[in-house]
Amino acid sequence: MMQQGRRWLKSKEGLMPTTVLEAEPQHVRAAPPHPDPYPWYGRLARERGFFRDDANNWWVAASAAAVREVLTSDVCLTRPMHERVPAGLRDGAAADIFSRLVRLRDDQARGPLKDVVTAAVRNIDLRQLATLTQARANELDAEIGLPFDAAKTTQFMFALPVQIVALLLGVPRERLADVMGWLGAYGAAAAATGTNIPVPTAEIIARGHQGAQALFDLLRNLKINDAERGPLLTALTNEGRRAGCDENDIVANAVGTMIQGYAAMASLIGLTLLALARRPELRAQVMADRKLLRPLIQEVCRFDPTTNSTFRFMARDGEIARHTLRQGEMIIVMLAAANRDPALNPEPDRFDIARADRKYLEFGAGPHACPADKLAPLIVEIALDHLLTRGVPFEKLEAALSYAPSGHIRTPLFNR
Ligand code: HEM
Repeated sequence: MMQQGRRWLKSKEGLMPTTVLEAEPQHVRAAPPHPDPYPWYGRLARERGFFRDDANNWWVAASAAAVREVLTSDVCLTRPMHERVPAGLRDGAAADIFSRLVRLRDDQARGPLKDVVTAAVRNIDLRQLATLTQARANELDAEIGLPFDAAKTTQFMFALPVQIVALLLGVPRERLADVMGWLGAYGAAAAATGTNIPVPTAEIIARGHQGAQALFDLLRNLKINDAERGPLLTALTNEGRRAGCDENDIVANAVGTMIQGYAAMASLIGLTLLALARRPELRAQVMADRKLLRPLIQEVCRFDPTTNSTFRFMARDGEIARHTLRQGEMIIVMLAAANRDPALNPEPDRFDIARADRKYLEFGAGPHACPADKLAPLIVEIALDHLLTRGVPFEKLEAALSYAPSGHIRTPLFNR
C-alpha cells in the first residue's frame, strides 16, 4: 500500500515541503530508516495489535497492550533458549561480551548482576554528569573545528554522549577515538549477525571480535587500577564484588554501558534537531527558553523515537495476546508503534511538547527496562543546549538527511 509522506524538495525559494507518495515499509525491520513509518505504525497499533507475519516468520506486537504484555512476560526471552549468541558471532571476544550482557540474559533479568548494573547507572550523580558533559562539549568543539556544518553536527552528536559514558568509566581522553571505533566495529558485527542488517561478512565479524577484545582489555585494565577508574566503573566494581558477581561479567557490562547508549543517544539528539528544523516557531521558543528542551526531548521519545523496536523469543509454547505461539518463535516488539496507540496517548499523531501525562516506551518496560532513562536524556539535553548556543545549520539538515541502515534503531545522519 502507498501512503502520503512529506518530503522537502529544493526549489529556487529554498527547501519546500511537498507531499509525495511513499511506499510503506515492507515489514517492521525495514521501517526504522523509512522517511515516515508512523502512519503505518499507527495503523498496526490500532488495527492489528498482535499478529503473525508469515512471510518473515515472526510475530509483531504493535499495540501498547501487546507490547507491555510481551515485555513483562516470563515466557518471552531476550535470546532463543538454544542460541544465546547469534550463530554467526560465535567463538570470539564479541561473542563473549554479547553472552554476558544483562540486556541479553534472562538468567540475570531479576538477578544480582542486573541489580548491580542498574544501581551503578542509576546512582551516577546527575550534577557531576551535567558538569562533565558541558566541559567535554566545549573540548569537542575545539577538536571538531569551525565552521559547524551539518556533517560536523553529526560528528558531534555521535561523539559527545558515548564519550561521556566512557569518561564515567575512566577511559583516558586520548583513547576516546579508539573506543568509538571499537564500539562501531562491535555494533556492526552484533547487528549483522543478529538481524542481517548489514549483511554479515567475514570482515565485519573479524573487526567486531577485534573491537570487542580491545574494549574488554581496556576496561579490565582500568578495573584493576583504583586510581584510574571513573565513578561508573568504581560502582560496578565495588557493587559487583559485594554481590559476588563474576569479574568478567562486570567488565563486559562496563563495556555494555557504552554499547547500549551509543547509537541511541546520538539518534535522540539528531531526531530532536530534526523536530526543531521542521518547526521554526517551536525552535524560536526553545532558543529563547532552554527549559523547554526537556519536554521537547520527551515528546521526541514518544513521537519519533530512536528505539523503534526490540525483540523477544518464546521460551516454550504459550499464549500471548490471546494467540498461541510455539517455542522459539520470534516477536518483534514495536515500541514506536505502541507510542502511537491512542490507548496510550490521546491524539497520538499530534506533536505537542506541552502534552499532559505523556507515555512512551522508548526506554522499554519490564525486567529489561533501561536503567539510563534519566542519565541518557540529560546528556542529550546538554548536548542540544550546547548545539543551539553554538549554532546548528537547521535549514541544511533536511537536505543532508538520510537514515542509517538498521532493523531496530532510527538514526538520522546529516552527511549527504
Ligand atoms: C537515548 C538513549 C537510550 C535509549 C533510547 C535506551 C533504550 C533502551 C531500551 C529500549 C532497553 C530495553 C531493551 C529490551 O527490553 O529489549 C534498554 C536496556 C538497557 N539500557 Fe538503555 N537506552 C539508552 C541509553 C542507555 C545508556 C546511556 C546506558 C548506560 C549508561 C543504557 C543501559 C542499558 C542497559 C544496561 C540495558 C539492559 C537492562 C536489562 O536488560 O537489565 N542505556 N535501553
